[in-house]
Amino acid sequence: MITGKTKIMGLIGDPVEHTISPYMHNAGFKHFNMDYVYVTFHVTKENLKFAIEGARALDVRGLNVTIPHKIEVMKYLDVIHETAWHIGAVNTIKFADEIEGYNTDGLGAVRGIQDVKSIKGSKIIILGAGGASRAISFQSLLSGAEQVLIANRTRDKALSLALDLNDYLNKDVRAIDIGEELKEELQDADILINTTPIGMYPNVDQEPLVTSDMMHEGLVVNDVIYNPLETGLLREARLAGAKTITGIKMLIYQGIESFKIWTGREPPMDVFEEALAPEIKKL
Ligand code: ATR
Repeated sequence: MITGKTKIMGLIGDPVEHTISPYMHNAGFKHFNMDYVYVTFHVTKENLKFAIEGARALDVRGLNVTIPHKIEVMKYLDVIHETAWHIGAVNTIKFADEIEGYNTDGLGAVRGIQDVKSIKGSKIIILGAGGASRAISFQSLLSGAEQVLIANRTRDKALSLALDLNDYLNKDVRAIDIGEELKEELQDADILINTTPIGMYPNVDQEPLVTSDMMHEGLVVNDVIYNPLETGLLREARLAGAKTITGIKMLIYQGIESFKIWTGREPPMDVFEEALAPEIKKL
């Protein structure tokens, strides 16, 4: 119930109407009997600064940030926490004495993977070199990955990301070509993560960059796309007998991490899962 004391959390982005995050967070607040509500705010680029100032003025306690504001919003924050600073993007804001920026995207993906396989010492191949790739590759290295290879359509972007990651962490990070090099590296890879929009609704029949003949049974394949739940890449992985992780895991864990930042409490996975289940069925 909304009361005179209810505090607001929310999501800013453009567009925001199709998000399923409110189902998770509101279920979390209900679970802990917390007097918070999570709503969406459609914020255009021109209004971003006013949205942050306005949120502060209205005593909003926390925000998630989505496309296209994850980078731009950093200008309006007082403190950027280390991981978000390295990634160069913020997806979670906490309004405390100062306005603090965090990034839980990478941790979301890594926690999803850690449920089925330890990241420590692993060889990871990441498809794509955009914002999601940046977050996941950085967090994978922080979580102890031995080797991270970035395969991207535009090689220069993969190179630049690999350079950034090497600068910070001094691990084995390289850009590789999509094609023969990717095929070869996949032979002894432990984890494959897709961060490109290939196969995302409505382009569900788009040919994935990696097919079953390039995969082995010991591989763990994670797609960050959750609509559809089983992407073309995950179908190929299933055919190859590899383990699959859907994009829902990353969504849930990044949400759990944001919730923790705002409230200091960790909602149980099944509370978020159950809240999302009816929404996922509609996808
Ligand atoms: P996000 O921030 O969600 O990661 P993004 O920054 O737009 O999204 O990045 C999308 C990534 O998917 C990019 O690396 C892009 O490759 P380019 O750097 O060559 O643009 C990759 N991508 C998008 N569509 C693709 C396609 N049809 N084939 C291969 N790669 C694609």
